[in-house]
Amino acid sequence: MSALLEVRDLRTHFFTRAGVVRAVEGVSFSLARGEILGLVGESGSGKSVTGFSLIGLVDPPGRIVSGSIRFDGQELVGLAQGDMRKLRGKRIAMVFQDPAATLNPVLTIGQQMALAVRAHGGAGEAAARDLAARTLTRVGIPDAAARLDAYPHEFSGGMRQRVAIATALLHGPDLIIADEPTTALDVSIQAQILAEMQKLARETGTALVWISHDLATVSSLADRLLVMYAGRIVESGRVGEVLRDPRHHYTRGLLDSLPATALPGEKLNQIPGTTPSLLSLPPGCPFAPRCPRADAVCATDPPDVAMGDRLFRCHHPLGLAA
Ligand SMILES: Nc1ncnc2c1ncn2[C@@H]1O[C@H](COP(=O)(O)OP(=O)(O)OP(=O)(O)O)[C@@H](O)[C@H]1O
Ligand SMILES: [Mg+2]
Repeated sequence: MSALLEVRDLRTHFFTRAGVVRAVEGVSFSLARGEILGLVGESGSGKSVTGFSLIGLVDPPGRIVSGSIRFDGQELVGLAQGDMRKLRGKRIAMVFQDPAATLNPVLTIGQQMALAVRAHGGAGEAAARDLAARTLTRVGIPDAAARLDAYPHEFSGGMRQRVAIATALLHGPDLIIADEPTTALDVSIQAQILAEMQKLARETGTALVWISHDLATVSSLADRLLVMYAGRIVESGRVGEVLRDPRHHYTRGLLDSLPATALPGEKLNQIPGTTPSLLSLPPGCPFAPRCPRADAVCATDPPDVAMGDRLFRCHHPLGLAA
């Protein structure tokens, strides 16, 4: 089966006064229809910039400097803005962390969803409202038809995020990129929304890229994980395998810092050090300065090791005799 999305050696850089920020530096992955991909990594690792690159929303001083993004056979890198706009919202949709930033406070939920419906087709007002109500019902908003006339501030944070997700679903997109969509919500609402998104992806065949710094959340949802560090994918594979048997020391560090691995009263392990400045990365493996296993060879570029659908980039991978 051919992939829905095929990203090859993507590089997105920001040309700032302080220098070139290599936010995405040679990212490759593919995604099948209906697959859920979790993109994890600490703050500043390039997750959002990867998401924005996929949907053609990188603003100056940033731009995609090289690489390829093939979506259903069509190359998106270098696509004219007008053509990208036709895809965006219709075949590829994005959900952001803060729905307050995407919802217009002076329009009712129904009005803005109707605008989103009609942006990509000639549906009449009644049909647009009807579709909006049905889609809100799908994401678990009770009594949706009546609530179309509410304003965003009349909804709770969890409900607003459901509206944002419903808006992304309106046109039955092939791909949704969700950037920390539940981070601002309390844990039980998060779990509910996650379960609903997973169900929707399964039912509709929509592929999902779920971005989060929270490995635990992503792991409960995704089929496959991409672990990102300093603009690169350092490890990827099926969720169960990556969790059970991490190969990269960074992934190991993320796992060790999950609350579930600590005993009650025990301090959580933290990866020592801080994420590096993308303006001044060390040569070789960018994780080396924080890595317990690093030695002299780590100052050279680590190899890409592929084992089945596992991939990792490390001179001294865990669990393998080196
Ligand atoms: N407009 C911009 N100008 C300059 N640098 C930028 C810009 N946007 C992002 N960056 C840089 O790109 C890098 C990656 O940022 P990105 O937002 O993708 O991180 P992230 O993994 O999404 O982090 P978080 O978990 O905090 O959301 C960071 O070093 C950031 O400072
Ligand atoms: Mg981000």
